[in-house]
Amino acid sequence: MSETEILSKFKITKTTNSRLKEFDQTNIQFGKIFADHMFEMNYRNGEWTDMEIKPYGPLSLAPSTSAIHYGQSIFEGLKAYRNLDDEVFIFRPEANSTRLNASAERMCMPSIPKELFLSALKQLVMIDKEWIPNVPGTSLYIRPFLFATDEFIGVKPSDNYKFMVFTCPVGTYYSEPVRVKIETMYSRACEGGVGRVKAAGNYAASLYPAKKAKEEGYHQLIWTDAKEHKYIEESGTMNMMFVVDNVLYTPTTSGTILPGITRDSVLKIAQSWGMQTNESSIHVEELVRALKGGRVQEAFGTGTAATIARIKTIGHEGTDYNLPAFTEKDFSIRILNYLEDLKRGREKDTWNWVTKIS
Ligand code: COI
Repeated sequence: MSETEILSKFKITKTTNSRLKEFDQTNIQFGKIFADHMFEMNYRNGEWTDMEIKPYGPLSLAPSTSAIHYGQSIFEGLKAYRNLDDEVFIFRPEANSTRLNASAERMCMPSIPKELFLSALKQLVMIDKEWIPNVPGTSLYIRPFLFATDEFIGVKPSDNYKFMVFTCPVGTYYSEPVRVKIETMYSRACEGGVGRVKAAGNYAASLYPAKKAKEEGYHQLIWTDAKEHKYIEESGTMNMMFVVDNVLYTPTTSGTILPGITRDSVLKIAQSWGMQTNESSIHVEELVRALKGGRVQEAFGTGTAATIARIKTIGHEGTDYNLPAFTEKDFSIRILNYLEDLKRGREKDTWNWVTKIS
C-alpha cells in the first residue's frame, strides 16, 4: 500500500487547546514533556484497524488488560530533528521498524507493516513539528509502543493489541559524564531470554539493582553475563564501547544484549574512518587490567536517548577507575559531533540513514 493510501485511512483530530505556548525549549527535562498529539491503532481479528491521530491524553483500559498482568509490552525509541532552516529529519526509522517487529515476534505479538509504522511516525511528527526543539543537543524523542489488550486472566498470547506513538521534546539523557558500576551479582538477561528485544519487563527487572548502584553513587550499571558474571554486556540504557590502544571494542550482540541502532551506526562510521573495531566477548578481568594499566583511552555508552554518553568512572568490586579527561580529539566527541550534523542534515548522508519529512 502506498503512503497516500495508508494516510487516507488515518482519522486526524487536532487539539483545540495546544500546550505549545507553555513549552520552554531552553529548559527541557528528559521524558517529562509531551507534544500535543498521539497516534493509536488497534489489532483486532488479525488486522490493524482504527488508525487515528488525536490529542495526547489518558487511555481507558479494563483492569484485566493482559499487558498489565503478563507483560506483553514492547517499545522503541528514535528521534526527530529540526534544523535552523526548519527542515525535519528522522534518524534510521526503518531500523526501528525492523527491531520492533523482531521484538514482536519474540513476544508473540503481531508485526506492524513497515510502511504503516513509518507513515504513523512521519504524520505525527509533522503535526507536532513545532514541538521539535532546535537548540543544540535537543530533539523530539519518538516513543512507539505495542501492548496486549485482551481482557483476560490467564497466560497466553493476547488476540488484541494496541499500537501507539507519542513524542516528547528532549535534551540530553545524562546531564553529566556517567559513573557506572560493573554489576556482578544481579542479572539483566540470560541466554534464551528476552535481553535482545525491547521488552518493557527488561527495564522493570533492572530497577532494583540500578537503585542499589545509585545508593552507592553510580548513575548506572554495566551488566555482565548471567551465568558467570565474567563478560561485559550492556548498560540497560545504552550499549557499551571502549577505546583501548586505539581500537574500538564493544561486546557482540549475543542473545542477551539489545542490538542498538546507535551502536550499529557508530561501528559503521568508525570503520569508514579507518578505525579498527572489535566486536567480541569482553572479559571483565581484561577490562579491569586495561583500566589499571591506563590503557582505556575512552569509555562511552551509545543509545537513542543517551546518544554518546561519556563514562567518567567505572566501579568494580569496591574500586573506582577514573577515565582520562576528555579532549576534542577523542573519538567519542568526534563521532557525537558527526552524528549531530548528520541527523540535522548538515552532513551529507552517504549512509542513507536520514529520512527528511515534509
Ligand atoms: C532509548 O534509548 O530510546 C531507550 O529506550 C532507553 C531509555 C532509557 C530511554
